[in-house]
Amino acid sequence: MIIPNPELLSDARFEVKYLDSHQTDAREGEDVIRGLTSSPKTLPPKYFYDSKGSELFERICQLPEYYLTRTETAIITAACEEIVTITGVCELIELGSGNSQKTRLFLSAYESLGKPWRYIPIDVSRETLYYSALKLCHDYPLLSILGLVGTIEQALLQLPPSCHKRMLIFLGSTLGNFTPDETEEFLRLLRQILNPGDYFLLGIDLQKPIDIVEKAYNDNQGVTAAFNLNILSHLNWRFEGNFDLSLFKHQAVYNFEKHQIEMYLQATESHKVRLNKLNLEISFDEGEKILTEISRKFNLQNMITLLAKYDLNTVKFWTDKDNWFALILSQLKATNLC
Ligand code: SAH
Ligand code: AVI
Repeated sequence: MIIPNPELLSDARFEVKYLDSHQTDAREGEDVIRGLTSSPKTLPPKYFYDSKGSELFERICQLPEYYLTRTETAIITAACEEIVTITGVCELIELGSGNSQKTRLFLSAYESLGKPWRYIPIDVSRETLYYSALKLCHDYPLLSILGLVGTIEQALLQLPPSCHKRMLIFLGSTLGNFTPDETEEFLRLLRQILNPGDYFLLGIDLQKPIDIVEKAYNDNQGVTAAFNLNILSHLNWRFEGNFDLSLFKHQAVYNFEKHQIEMYLQATESHKVRLNKLNLEISFDEGEKILTEISRKFNLQNMITLLAKYDLNTVKFWTDKDNWFALILSQLKATNLC
């Protein structure tokens, strides 16, 4: 682990809180037990993101086949000044912030308003959040940072009170990794915790020719395959497991009916796996699959309608020339009393 620069650490504008008490939480891993004992087997995608998984994701973002990051970056670059003009100074809360690379475009635009303000990145990936936040604190002198390490749900339920207008940012189409039910649950929670007039900025991947989407999840260099398999290494480390990665292979296929990529790990032979900390033994048949992630591809109008169902009215949206990706700025209805 890299030792942080002590000068930066002593900065009063920087704080990180750990909400994921995974050393002490008796329910830790219940989701893994539920997923691996269900049929078909599944795993929550949040387990991709240990520090190696976050590094692999950053490599995915650079891949020629993975159009999402560069397309969204281009949209943000073109739209960020306008967004800042619409919202004015805001407290920024980012869900699944990762390395906050695209967020820097917003931070630069807000910094130019010349007033101090706060950024609250939220992520399960501890080291990625810590070091990205530390660098941001150094690069943006008007910014104070409160990093929250934990799940989106944990963090939203424990957000510190604020008397400022807020903008919640959710980029990268990470919402696409939620099932339709999880999406509605998430929007219901947003409606509860946001104040009338607060903003929600959402980046979503749109439906497009399937070969383009499938290539993005089956890259030539095998980085996505390594990212997918890494979920097993993470489980081995976290729950004292003995998954043998060489007995699984990566698969990513588009489901036409559901408009989603489905990422699987398929067992190449029948075998058993133990996760000691969870007191769990699981059997795999040859060819049996674990669904590790869905990545939904959206219809823009449907998303605008869904947001409106939860009182999030679209102020403006931006897309790229090919309509591959969209950025939607919505605002919680002023008449909402929740
Ligand atoms: N927003 C960045 C990163 C997207 S990758 C971008 O657009 O490039 C998804 C990020 O969400 C990862 O950093 C991962 O660690 C985080 N993440 C995934 N599931 C999460 C969850 N349930 N709660 C909090 N963070 C989560
Ligand atoms: C974070 N999330 C939006 C990515 C996606 O495209 O669904 C994760 C990913 N999985 C494989 N490649 C990238």
